[in-house]
Amino acid sequence: MTETHTEVPTLYPPPAEFAANANATEELYAEAEADRLAFWAEQANRLAWQTPFSEVLDWSDRPFAKWFVGGKLNVAYNCVDRHVEAGNGDRVAIHWEGEPVGDARTITYAELKDEVCRAANALTQLGLVAGDRVAIYMPMVPEAIVAMLACARLGVMHSVVFAGFSASALRARVEDAAAKMVITTDGQYRRGQAVSLKAGVDDALAGLDDSPVEHVVVVRRTSIDVPWTEGRDVWWDQVVPAAPAEHTPEAFDSEHPLFLLYTSGTTGKPKGIMHTSGGYLTQASYTHHYVFDLKPESDVYWCTADIGWVTGHTYIVYGPLSNGATQVVYEGTPASPTEHRHFEVIEKYGVSIYYTAPTLVRTFMKWGREIAFAHDLSSLRLLGSVGEPINPEAWRWYRLVFGNDRTPIVDTWWQTETGAAMISPLPGVTSCKPGSAMRPLPGISAKIVDDDGNELAPSPDHGEHVTGYLVLDKPWPSMLRGIWGDPERFTETYWSRFAEQGWYFAGDGARYGSDGEIWVLGRIDDVMNISGHRISTAEVESALVGHSGVAEAAVVGASDDHTGQAICAFVILKAHHADMSHEQMVDELRAEVSREISPIAKPREIHVVPELPKTRSGKIMRRLLRDVAEGRELGDTSTLVDPGVFEAIRASK
Ligand code: WTA
Repeated sequence: MTETHTEVPTLYPPPAEFAANANATEELYAEAEADRLAFWAEQANRLAWQTPFSEVLDWSDRPFAKWFVGGKLNVAYNCVDRHVEAGNGDRVAIHWEGEPVGDARTITYAELKDEVCRAANALTQLGLVAGDRVAIYMPMVPEAIVAMLACARLGVMHSVVFAGFSASALRARVEDAAAKMVITTDGQYRRGQAVSLKAGVDDALAGLDDSPVEHVVVVRRTSIDVPWTEGRDVWWDQVVPAAPAEHTPEAFDSEHPLFLLYTSGTTGKPKGIMHTSGGYLTQASYTHHYVFDLKPESDVYWCTADIGWVTGHTYIVYGPLSNGATQVVYEGTPASPTEHRHFEVIEKYGVSIYYTAPTLVRTFMKWGREIAFAHDLSSLRLLGSVGEPINPEAWRWYRLVFGNDRTPIVDTWWQTETGAAMISPLPGVTSCKPGSAMRPLPGISAKIVDDDGNELAPSPDHGEHVTGYLVLDKPWPSMLRGIWGDPERFTETYWSRFAEQGWYFAGDGARYGSDGEIWVLGRIDDVMNISGHRISTAEVESALVGHSGVAEAAVVGASDDHTGQAICAFVILKAHHADMSHEQMVDELRAEVSREISPIAKPREIHVVPELPKTRSGKIMRRLLRDVAEGRELGDTSTLVDPGVFEAIRASK
């Protein structure tokens, strides 16, 4: 590689040899364009249906869609059994790599099937029936995936709660869903340390007046001591291995609920996003096949997400397994025990497809390319990115250092709500511009519109850009079917902004590039994106004002070179906190947010201020606080009650 500074390319066409063997072709767009519903029917037939569907889409009760009406299938059967029945039982489903070096397991599809069947039988014995909810609060161990699939097999909805979330976050989710069971581990490894997890479950449940939870099932992972409640708590290894490995999967309606996944919205209360079976699995399988160009016989696929997020659901569990993929699942953090770990894992398993988040790419950039260059990464043939816009510099670095400047990169835009990828290049087909997710996938329709719903025109590559709102103007199979227990909030949040047109409002700002490609610019609502994790300003504000010393709090996301956005808080203290210095108070507040929500939500900065900028109607002007946080000139302050408040805020920064 030469380090001459010739002009960097702005367009990356697909390499010819990749294009020659690609799953996707240009015709896919034309086919979907010609008859969208017929196209989706064809994709649905990637799956095994016990009863075929009679209608592709029923959109009469909008915004509540029904896809593949009348069809019946079992999601777990589709992800596991049918590969065994097709003679691929010996294929590795999961190369599991534990955080402690040397702690690894290989699980074939036949073994996975037995394990899922045993777990399904054990969960049935513990009283679960179709329609129940189960919270899964686990690190990245194989049993977490087995637990999800066992729920799916039984028609029980899982609600996976990221194991980095606090006990109170778990409590709120268990309560909202009235979960009958929590599946967890005794503890988890965090950067080489075994820390407890089960204790957090006990904490969460102790805080509930009337706990819906009948059983807590505990997987032994670290062998640390755990608190125990006789009768309620059950060891996984005492019930699952003893259960029979035969289990007949029941076929459920295409619209039978599959899972709940809580995500941040613009208020403090997380929303339980609901997904159902047939449409979700169809789009998970379809996108995984084409966007990742999966060749199940030869590829080794690795998605570095956690199952606590939607990426882990769709692109670790349901997409890859429905396609019979062989994948790596890694338990730990990228720097454990050293910064070489991810590269060692790629080398060890011969990973060919690697899917990660821009924030991790920037971390690798910070560590330096020598680390990557110390390893043989030649097995990699496709790279992916998700979670936030990837800056062109990181995109080029990723391609150069991971991909030897030859692999395509798929920058996939989607959301917890969309269930699966929506806007992304097709590898082997699309010429890519670094930083752009390019265009909607075949079968998907998206537009960028202004306040009145008029579609924007393409922007020139240089100079003024016109930005607008990203909307999805046609329903899609893996779309969310609602918010658990709150149909009004569902309609209000996603379908009211462009109610007249009947479009889904994604909450992201975007612009068209000169070739009509889509550049997603990030959230335009009060949701922040910290290293690809969605956190609402309201959630953090509510954690801050939950502290007895805080009178008022305002939180904004300020741009950050490393994490995309960083949390910046402004607080007004109550008079009586006087016995503590501001510094001590700030430390305490950061710890409080971490305890209440998660370490991910810990503010980068907290400023103690005498006042907050408000409009005459009492609304906090976050836009102006963002200007302050990012050190910009202030925007329009004419609607403020007291424009002088900024002098005071600046003085305290
Ligand atoms: C952002 C993650 C730009 C976006 C799958 C979206 C992206 C939110 C991209 C959803 C991308 C995700 N380019 N922005 N490729 N992917 N986003 O629900 O703001 O955790 O609305 O789903 O992440 O985050 P969520």
